[in-house]
Amino acid sequence: MVKKIILATTSKYKEEEIKSLLKDLDIEVMSMTSFDKYPKTIEDGKTLEDNAIKKAKEAAKFFNSWVIADDSGLEVDYLNGEPGVFSARYAGKECSFQDNIKKLLYALKDVPFEKRTARFRTVIAIASPSGQLYLSTGEIYGIINLIGKGQYNFGYDPIFYIPEYNKTFAELTPDIKNTISHRAKALQQVKVVLKQL
Ligand code: IMP
Repeated sequence: MVKKIILATTSKYKEEEIKSLLKDLDIEVMSMTSFDKYPKTIEDGKTLEDNAIKKAKEAAKFFNSWVIADDSGLEVDYLNGEPGVFSARYAGKECSFQDNIKKLLYALKDVPFEKRTARFRTVIAIASPSGQLYLSTGEIYGIINLIGKGQYNFGYDPIFYIPEYNKTFAELTPDIKNTISHRAKALQQVKVVLKQL
């Protein structure tokens, strides 16, 4: 089995979520930010798959190591899958989570609750320096709430309502979110792959 894998992410939030989900594997998981230098991949793909693969391949070559990279997005049915791959910068280049939420709520201002269906989708790419590549995806369905709610304010969490829990993502504790999230589901498959390498 692979003994060490590098996470190609600069997000502390994601690093913690991914490390906690992989902690029962006998693999050292390191974030690329713990190195002096790391690649700054330009995420210009047209799909989440394109970006995850690009990040994983570049980092695998750079570090000469197995790498995990992910890309996620929120796909709103009424907006034909937008913001999708542009989720991070939906309201502009330097925008905040709050700016993105405001823009999305405005785009859906006349849309009734039952038509505000959406899903978060994650694609995770696992790449080796010699060019091996594995892909895994995970999704969670929800509804874009009419207003923001909850205290765990990552990304679109305050407006992503999950009917089964009668709560938004931001109202769920990280423990619960980390068992049901799109990333958690994609990481379950990643575990299966890692055990076979
Ligand atoms: P990333 O590829 O995981 O960085 O996700 C891109 C963007 O999608 C983030 O900047 C967030 O705005 C949004 N996003 C991804 N995952 C989540 C989540 O679990 N909750 C809320 N927003 C998310």
